[in-house]
Amino acid sequence: MIREIVFATHTQGDIVAERIVLAYSGGLDTSVAIGWIAEKTGAEVIAVAGDVGQGGEDLDTIRQRALDCGAADAVVVDMKDEFADEYCLPALKANSLYMDKYPLVSALSRPTIVKHLVDAAHQFGASTVAHGCTGKGNDQVRFEVGINALAPELKCIAPVRDTDMTRDKAIAFAEANGLPISTSKRSPYSVDQNVWGRAVETGILEDIWNAPPEDCYEYTSNPAEKREADELVITFDKGVPIAIDGEKVTMLQAIEKLNERAGAHGVGRIDMVEDRLVGIKSREVYEAPGAIALITAHQELENVTLERELARFKRGVEQRWSELVYDGLWFSPLKDALDVFLEESQKHVSGDIRLKLQGGRAWVTGRRSDSSLYDYHMATYDAEDQFDQSLAKGFVDIWGLPSKMAALRDSRVV
Ligand code: ARG
Repeated sequence: MIREIVFATHTQGDIVAERIVLAYSGGLDTSVAIGWIAEKTGAEVIAVAGDVGQGGEDLDTIRQRALDCGAADAVVVDMKDEFADEYCLPALKANSLYMDKYPLVSALSRPTIVKHLVDAAHQFGASTVAHGCTGKGNDQVRFEVGINALAPELKCIAPVRDTDMTRDKAIAFAEANGLPISTSKRSPYSVDQNVWGRAVETGILEDIWNAPPEDCYEYTSNPAEKREADELVITFDKGVPIAIDGEKVTMLQAIEKLNERAGAHGVGRIDMVEDRLVGIKSREVYEAPGAIALITAHQELENVTLERELARFKRGVEQRWSELVYDGLWFSPLKDALDVFLEESQKHVSGDIRLKLQGGRAWVTGRRSDSSLYDYHMATYDAEDQFDQSLAKGFVDIWGLPSKMAALRDSRVV
């Protein structure tokens, strides 16, 4: 319980105050948490909010609200480029899809925010970091495990989980204290979004037989609507998307442009039942048009440029990497080591991929690379064939020898 936590004391002149850094979203729960935490602990609350491309209100508005809700100070950070370059890009190099489907939207933003929470805690001399997660999800794990991996001395608290800050109590608190936040606006879903995608859960989606209604979606148009196909060329350099249709882009711009163009064709809608780390199976609806378009293109460029054994081994690494990141282990020794492997694997992943977008799908229609391992003279069945088929006979015999010997043994020994 929160009262049992012993807070480090921060001295500033003759003012003595404990400080707690709060991951602040600007929404009802974390706005209430500012005063709620201050009341329960007597600590000063420093709000930290970040822009990871979630859209909506600007950072100044969010900062002012934090102060109006009683924060001792508020830090707002534009994290968009950092999020794209340091979190989404590694996920692209890993073709990261948890359970072969989910491009880790929320799982990538949490470590980004964690870094800034820890920085703020150090800057303000705080003893504790607070977040607004419940006790049922993955995000509590990502925050707390991440914070302690970067700063083992910091404590973590979660008012919703640890001090019974229910929705009804939060609304009552906001109204009693006249907080400048709407208590009536209730979305039918719980949503978390950033530039890499959008996660939608709860409400009518909790009956897993219900199809997701069209109002779930914001990043994608209905793929059933008829639209002329779009076609584009993505240029990669060592696994990094550097141009679209010949125009230079940053990672952030690449995602944003593809969110628009692939989103217009309904690309990247995902409806799945997912294994959470806390043991619950949950129904999740995602939309990640840019992420899915980029992964589709990147995967195909790897098919052309990665040597077979590297490609096969990498698939296992990709899955393990995705599970580590999903499970809140972004800052961990195995993840760091796999990153080195992934980086090394990208040294020939350069070239162009042509993608077509239509009817909810992004598919590759062309590939071209100076580092291509595709050799026309090896592949062709035409006259220019340079593959020596006479070598194949001996190869096949020797390749099949172990299983043939085993079959002979099995016919001898029952
Ligand atoms: N289930 C996803 C994950 O753990 C998304 C969680 C998003 N949170 C939300 N409030 N919708 O990564």
